[in-house]
Amino acid sequence: MTTIETIVSKDAEALRQSAASWLLEEIEATPGDVFVCLSGGSTPQKLYEALARPPFLETLPWGRIRWFFGDDRFVPPSDERSNARMARLALFDHAPIPPDRIHVIPNLETPEASARAYEATLQQLYGAEILDPNRPLFHVMICGIGLDGHTASLFPGKPALAEETRWVVGVPEAGQTPYVPRVTLTLPALNSSRSTAFLVAGADKRAILARVLAGEDLPAARVTAQEQLSWLVDRAAHPDDVD
Ligand code: 6PG
Repeated sequence: MTTIETIVSKDAEALRQSAASWLLEEIEATPGDVFVCLSGGSTPQKLYEALARPPFLETLPWGRIRWFFGDDRFVPPSDERSNARMARLALFDHAPIPPDRIHVIPNLETPEASARAYEATLQQLYGAEILDPNRPLFHVMICGIGLDGHTASLFPGKPALAEETRWVVGVPEAGQTPYVPRVTLTLPALNSSRSTAFLVAGADKRAILARVLAGEDLPAARVTAQEQLSWLVDRAAHPDDVD
């Protein structure tokens, strides 16, 4: 049974702090190795910046955490559009993270080759090629949501959304800017998470968030978690909040 909670922060800055506290609590509640999956986007980026600063910088058990990505743009790691680059500049470069604990999506010759390689990495670290419904791949997952209801690089109406077996696939055509091919976790992999938080900020997200929360069949609405699904939103984005 999944618990669903919504935590509304007064603005984007408060949301950043609330998301960092949420993540810290989830990590502290996990013994041993903690698998944390990150996403791209400007709202998650603010969280990563917060983690690289006090009090989180001194508090997080950096040596126990493994960092993964829910998706990336199919661009070289130095490209401004790379999610891995964004996380490196916001977080990885500033925290005592052993390099072998950062698992970015590789940029190989094709999105499909990158997807296969990342899937192999995930399967090796998970220790199986089939996902066990009672043992999540990730302990904690951070998701963003796009104006069209996409999450990770699962865009409405695109074939990646329908994938039922593979853990990671190439997305030849993005449904939103930047229009570069993507590599994304599929729903089976995204949903193999113990605790998942969506970070949603800004008035432009209010309409799509209302549709997702109303249960419309959009990619973000298909995301579940094994134990806890949290909507961390700011007042501007929350459908019921009156300005
Ligand atoms: C990406 C994503 C994507 C993102 C949302 C929200 O690579 O673009 O992982 O799913 O999280 O589009 O992004 P914003 O917070 O910038 O709106």
